[in-house]
Amino acid sequence: MYSDADKDAIKQRLNLADLVREVAPDLKERAAGDFWACCPFHNEDTASFHVLSARGMYKCFGCGESGDHFSFVMGTRGLDFREALELLAERAGVTLGSLTAEDKRRIAETRRARDVLEAARDVFAEALGAPEGRAALAAMRGRGFSDEILKQFDIGYIPRDFLDRVRRRGVDPRAIREAGFTGMFVDRIAFGIRSDNGAIVGFGARRLSEGEDAGPKYVNTRETQAFRKRRILYGLDRAVRTLVQTGRLIVMEGYTDVMMAHQCGLTEAVATMGTSFTEEHVKTVGQRARNVVFLFDGDEAGQRAADDAVRRLLERGRESRVLVLPEGADPCDWFLAARRERPDDPQAAAAAFDAYLEREAQATATFLAQRSLALSDPGEPGRRERVASEVVELTRTIEDPLRRDAIVLEISRACAVDRNRLHRTSKAAAAGSASAASAPRRAGVVHAETRSQFAIVGAIADPEAGLDVVRPLLAEGLVSDARALRLCELADPSGERTGHVDSSAWLDYVSEQEPVLQATLEHTLLPPPGVILPTLDEAVEHLRRLVSARRAKEQRLALVSGLDVNDSLKTENALQTVQETFASSAGPARDSRAGEEIGHLNQASRPTEETP
Ligand code: UTP
Ligand code: MN
Repeated sequence: MYSDADKDAIKQRLNLADLVREVAPDLKERAAGDFWACCPFHNEDTASFHVLSARGMYKCFGCGESGDHFSFVMGTRGLDFREALELLAERAGVTLGSLTAEDKRRIAETRRARDVLEAARDVFAEALGAPEGRAALAAMRGRGFSDEILKQFDIGYIPRDFLDRVRRRGVDPRAIREAGFTGMFVDRIAFGIRSDNGAIVGFGARRLSEGEDAGPKYVNTRETQAFRKRRILYGLDRAVRTLVQTGRLIVMEGYTDVMMAHQCGLTEAVATMGTSFTEEHVKTVGQRARNVVFLFDGDEAGQRAADDAVRRLLERGRESRVLVLPEGADPCDWFLAARRERPDDPQAAAAAFDAYLEREAQATATFLAQRSLALSDPGEPGRRERVASEVVELTRTIEDPLRRDAIVLEISRACAVDRNRLHRTSKAAAAGSASAASAPRRAGVVHAETRSQFAIVGAIADPEAGLDVVRPLLAEGLVSDARALRLCELADPSGERTGHVDSSAWLDYVSEQEPVLQATLEHTLLPPPGVILPTLDEAVEHLRRLVSARRAKEQRLALVSGLDVNDSLKTENALQTVQETFASSAGPARDSRAGEEIGHLNQASRPTEETP
């Protein structure tokens, strides 16, 4: 569809700071190429939105939103990627080109399938308004849906001869089969399903009557290239607009739940497609939603689904909340009931939801602890302690020490175990894992050394440096930190690239291949306020000094340990050499000076700041 060269050309020609300034007029340059503004993605009074124009990246240290030219335009203007690409290409005067034969084939195929799906949507909508669709329309209106919502969510009626009618609309007959309709698709209510960028990719079809003889409650069009149930969140195309502003996403289970939530003004509602909340969903939700609420049905299946979903996010270090409805209720009914209580206030249901959320929602740790207790045998000795330590263990992925303390408190309450005890257990375990990770290093020196190594790694994304400059430095062995080396490898997996790498493509690739390193790379490319990474020159000089000091020391040790104590002449010679090496290259005087500089580098950052 487009090439990386197109994307690069656009980024080179358009300054990200200029794009940001259009939306955030208060953008100020604090140092060369280093801009700050109040964040356009959330409400704030102090500037925590950081733009590094040379690297073409932005990040908000308030809400976590980050990305490049394309995501910025998508997020602030509600465009999909293709639209953002076209808009920016036009501005930059870049002609999008370089389509391969395969690209052309795929575009044509997608277009044909989309034509069929859109024609079908029109046929279904028309039929819903015609006498044949009377029962379907009555069913949906009877459940409280407004005509406007029915239209917004592409609701229709599927008449028996719909395929003929679609054909008559002049679509490519070959593509009809590819669109994924099955024999089950007749005499049902159609629900149009859109991808997150708003294209219709498939349909759900609900039976009209409740009887078993009416077949399964819902059927879907078959999975296709564009319609992947494990990836889609129903309603996300509409929810993104709210999501961008509030960062909140409410995840439900059913189509009708989402429609009713939107009708009640909760436009950040989405639903899974009858699957669990998958790894793909976690990716989609990613950093966009800071605040995820699961609102699943009040039965055991709904609770189990919530349990899975919460754990999946927790594996990525993310907390969420679960709102449990009374047994037997589903969100659609709940909203409807809330609306009926105050029929003349259109905001009533949304307000009731927020109040209910405030009162009843359970945070990750509490939810997991209570559910685990509820499922365990009440007679089991020590079960509260067991559950408490299991949940502490699960929440270890949350690294923020303040959150950790709060979580331990939560767990101690949920399990009714002594808070201080649990704290001590948790701290001991945390210290154990931390010291194991950094055991062979000495804190102060390693801190500065690591920082310098990451400064070199970051230069890979700098147009002023890039791979051609960094590669020889790597070959010299200046970078030895395993994480730093892995990041270099991921920047250039084939070892063939030249120039600098695109920072957002690098971040994407890392989050795919090595999710645990994503935050590290982000920190490296765009350090938070107060953290000053050394410049490339400083970093290189610093590391050269450290490396040569280390090598000299290794040499010394090798000489001494290889001594034959019976040969006094050789011993004397060796000791002589050791003394000379010591005095000339890495004597005590130099060592202590290096020490001072390291101290200085350390002070440049806040003491609480984490090593990248
Ligand atoms: P529900 O049975 O809760 O349906 O299934 P619902 O959306 O609340 O529908 P109403 O309100 O009873 O009309 C939740 C979701 O699971 C999928 C659908 O995506 C549905 O929205 N599902 C359910 C299926 O795919 N097939 C089924 O047979 C049932
Ligand atoms: Mn339901």
